[in-house]
Amino acid sequence: MISVAIDGPAGAGKSTLSRKLAEHFGFIYVDTGAMYRAVGLKFSQMGADTELNCDIEKILADTTVDIRFVGTEQRVFLDGEDVSDKIRTPEMSMMASAVSAKPPVRAFLLDTQRKLAENNDCLMDGRDIGTVVLPNATVKIYLTASAEDRAMRRYKELIEKGQTVEFKDVYDDMVKRDYNDMHREIAPLKQADDAVVADTTGLEFEQSFELLINIINKGIEGK
Ligand code: DC
Repeated sequence: MISVAIDGPAGAGKSTLSRKLAEHFGFIYVDTGAMYRAVGLKFSQMGADTELNCDIEKILADTTVDIRFVGTEQRVFLDGEDVSDKIRTPEMSMMASAVSAKPPVRAFLLDTQRKLAENNDCLMDGRDIGTVVLPNATVKIYLTASAEDRAMRRYKELIEKGQTVEFKDVYDDMVKRDYNDMHREIAPLKQADDAVVADTTGLEFEQSFELLINIINKGIEGK
């Protein structure tokens, strides 16, 4: 099976690019961030905030997170309910970042992620795909851009969805989330030694898309 691992900080364009790349190559697209968001939603439904002063193991024992595909589009189900849209809020971004720092949560999702890659040609994006989830991925990419660029893209996305947000809040949340994701003890966001870095600062979508197609084609040819 071919697996393409794409890691990088929030807002680097991972999900938009990965979705299109998966379509281009005919692979499934696995958005692991959505799985952490679904777990974050569950904890929020159980009354927890980002401090997570709750019995994590107990809540996980009563939680299911499944990924299903409609064509190549991933939908994420929490306890049987499709929550793919509900998880796209700034609150769920912060909850996802909080739960993702907890080892039992990472262990809870790891198996599902690996099985998807064992059974399908796939493109998987997240923070630890090249370093922990798929250390033997066919191609590893570390996708990044400046914090300003990333915050502006996320801000525009939220505004397009009709949410009321301030640029400064989006920027501050992003910097805080980068810090959390890079400094947690378990599976922190970092570039795998054998990853190719793609910096999309200042690039239009089409330019980033072409850049990644070239990296992936080269990576697959080289194996
Ligand atoms: O990519 P995203 O913004 O949807 O991810 C939400 C959060 O989940 C992010 O702050 C970090 C965490 N995450 C992670 O720790 N590991 C992954 N493989 C994917 C996401």
